[in-house]
Amino acid sequence: MTKRYHILGIKITAAILCFSLIPLIVLGVSLYKHFVTSYTNRVLEALRASVEERKRALDFFFEERVSQLLSIAHTHSFDQIIKAGYLDELFAVIQTRSKYYIDIGVIDMDGNHVVYVGPYNLKGFNYRETEWFQAVSMQGVYISDVFMGFRKIPHFIIAVMKREGEKFWILRATINTELFESLVLAARKGRYGDAFLVNEKKEYQTNPQVIGKTTEHFIPITELGFFRGTKVMESYISGRRSAIGASWLENKRWLLVVIEDLEEELFPILQARHLALMLLLGGIGAIVVGAIGVSVVMVRQMEESDREKAALDAELMHSSKMAALGRLAAGVAHEINNPLAVIREKAGWLRDLLEEEDIRSSENFKEFADAVDKIEYHVERAREITHRLLGFARRMEPHREKVNIHRVITETLSFLENEVLYRNITIHKSFDPRIPDIESDSTQLQQAFLNIVNNAIDAVDKNGDIWITSKLDTHRNLVIVEIKDNGPGIPEDILERIFDPFVTTKPVGKGTGLGLSITYSIVEKLGGKIYASNRRDGHGAVFTLEFPITGSKSEDVLKT
Ligand SMILES: Nc1ncnc2c1ncn2[C@@H]1O[C@H](COP(=O)(O)OP(=O)(O)O)[C@@H](O)[C@H]1O
Ligand SMILES: [Mg+2]
Repeated sequence: MTKRYHILGIKITAAILCFSLIPLIVLGVSLYKHFVTSYTNRVLEALRASVEERKRALDFFFEERVSQLLSIAHTHSFDQIIKAGYLDELFAVIQTRSKYYIDIGVIDMDGNHVVYVGPYNLKGFNYRETEWFQAVSMQGVYISDVFMGFRKIPHFIIAVMKREGEKFWILRATINTELFESLVLAARKGRYGDAFLVNEKKEYQTNPQVIGKTTEHFIPITELGFFRGTKVMESYISGRRSAIGASWLENKRWLLVVIEDLEEELFPILQARHLALMLLLGGIGAIVVGAIGVSVVMVRQMEESDREKAALDAELMHSSKMAALGRLAAGVAHEINNPLAVIREKAGWLRDLLEEEDIRSSENFKEFADAVDKIEYHVERAREITHRLLGFARRMEPHREKVNIHRVITETLSFLENEVLYRNITIHKSFDPRIPDIESDSTQLQQAFLNIVNNAIDAVDKNGDIWITSKLDTHRNLVIVEIKDNGPGIPEDILERIFDPFVTTKPVGKGTGLGLSITYSIVEKLGGKIYASNRRDGHGAVFTLEFPITGSKSEDVLKT
């Protein structure tokens, strides 16, 4: 493929790829994006629902605990509740259904722990100075943050106050943080999911399971401060893409935070992405192969038809050139023939005059006679040339007859017998016996062969060989005649235009450059083809002629 067609091929390929791949990729990417976004939104909405559900459960838990303690306080008097064994019984009753409490105790208005039921012996401690004691005596109900307390284990308490006239007392219970925590953790999902509570100071109230209790993990939603309702957002936590949902509880300023690992949640979609990507790559591969294939085929066909067109153009050019030259040559020959006839006649007249006595005795007689000879000789030569020119130009329709091409060649060679013998040239003939008679014009064929063999003899000069071979091409229904010599070969610079008229390398007077162009037009008229080339080893020229077995006119040849 030449460079031009190569570039064309690349352009076509690029155009096909451009118009098919870009929409495909744009479509694929936007569909994928859309899919991921809507899937993420669904995950976020599910998270919002689960946070709300959990928040309600936790609020309900606090409400239950507070009202339980309040109802105990309001149905008993201080004197009643501090009776020995009374609180133990009460505690046993409320613990039968669920073990939410660790212990319970009664504190008098001076802060003394007067009764205590539970695993730790806290009786006798004084709470007057503690923050929660102050708070509950002011507000009536108090829920503490998680703290270590005297026992150095995390817990939180719920305390309610009961007024009795001027006095008051406090019922205080410790909540089982383990049970409470499991209530929070029910919102947790997946291996990397988490759920926990933080207070307003961003201190953890329950243990995060995955991210750990260290404060280095930045949870952006805790920065928002207090807000109503439930918020969900997308963020990176410990380098993983996560969905975060949060809501403040009603009864206690604790923020419920639920974290879901988006990568984990989106896993099915990621798997689908691999499949889609593979399909996309496969599709792109098929398109690329198809585009290259199509453009290669297209460019090849284009190149082929361009080449055919160029060959046809060249043939047409040559034919019309020959026709024009033919007309010109005929005109020139005709015009020159008349003056030539006059010169010849006058030369004859001069020769007659030379016979007279007084001229014969003149001292210049010999020179006169020589001049007349030369005039006659050169007029004869000029006549021959005009004759050939007319032959070249004559648009004589070849007449059709059955011709034995081998006989035509042998006859032609017989004209040249003496010349060949004199120059010691051997002619090797090799004829294919299968060749039938062809429809052609034997006189014109003879003219064509004569010109070619004459040239070969000129080229070989002395002591050489000429090979004449005939072959039958049954495929194309052709007779092929090859005339080969071992002369110097055709000079490269005239090889291209060797069939043009007046192309010759021979000295003036020896060659006219008309032989091969006449041969060319004869062969063309007979429906055949002629090619000139040099032998591959460089020693000699080869002329190949092809003739149809059933004759066709030159016009038909031009059309095909
Ligand atoms: N067999 C050949 N070997 C080498 N050169 C050749 C041969 N036949 C033809 N040529 C070259 O082609 C030219 C044109 O041939 P042609 O048309 O017959 O004109 P001319 O014989 O009058 O020169 C010749 O002058 C010669 O250079
Ligand atoms: Mg010649």
